[in-house]
Amino acid sequence: MGLNTAVRRYWEAEPCGTSVWIVGAAPARSPAWFAQVEQHRYSVEPHIFSVAQFTRFRAKDILEIGVGAGCDHLQFARAGARCHGVDLTDAAIETTRQHLALHRLTSDLRRADAEHLPFENEHFDAVYSWGVIHHSERPEAIVREIHRVLRPGGQFVGMMYSRRSLVAYKLWVRRALLAGKPFRSLKDVIWNHMESVGTKAYTAEELENLFGDFSERRIAPIATVYDRKWLGPFAKVVPDVLGWNFSIRAVK
Ligand SMILES: C[S@@+](CC[C@H](N)C(=O)[O-])C[C@H]1O[C@@H](n2cnc3c(N)ncnc32)[C@H](O)[C@@H]1O
Repeated sequence: MGLNTAVRRYWEAEPCGTSVWIVGAAPARSPAWFAQVEQHRYSVEPHIFSVAQFTRFRAKDILEIGVGAGCDHLQFARAGARCHGVDLTDAAIETTRQHLALHRLTSDLRRADAEHLPFENEHFDAVYSWGVIHHSERPEAIVREIHRVLRPGGQFVGMMYSRRSLVAYKLWVRRALLAGKPFRSLKDVIWNHMESVGTKAYTAEELENLFGDFSERRIAPIATVYDRKWLGPFAKVVPDVLGWNFSIRAVK
């Protein structure tokens, strides 16, 4: 079985951010369910707004890779972008379609593996992807595809995971040190114990290389609520450099 088959199976079972502890008793895909999903997402990851800057994409052709439950896709559609989206799963595509329909909005949504994007060269003004590329078997193939489908001067905006972060170090303590396996690497515990199997996390230098074909790159770490968890009074002083998220802006 290829890695992306396992990745797909994991996310088909439950689109990202829709667990029962988030949505409570609300019927699946009801207005109350979507409201809970959205409220939770932006309360734990408020930095999405400053990274994505949705309102800058009015009347632009945008592609979102890995739409999940469609919260960010809805933001682009509300902002008046011409929206296209792909995801590895039917669950995400259908959830996003219903999420937009609730607000009388539409998008060109397709189930596809982003390692092979079903679009012509130089088709988009912007490509957006939040927390997706590092789950795929060949992230470098997705980045190549993003570069291919962007128009000259078009930009990629997104988030990928950071390996030298408190989230990664805490996972290592739990899954390596306390499990009596102190020789396990950070890469190994992230691969096996962070969401779907095969998850990767990067250093800034590795991301600079991954996006090396782009003419400009801005890559910056961001401390998240997940880095601050369990730190008690120290939670307030976590520096961005130890954050789990890298924001990425790259111009073709
Ligand atoms: C962590 S979720 C993020 C979803 C959404 N962007 C969000 O922030 O909630 C990862 C998503 O990426 C999708 N995905 C993983 N690998 C993919 C690939 N190769 N092509 C397209 N989508 C992929 C999964 O199906 C899943 O919906």
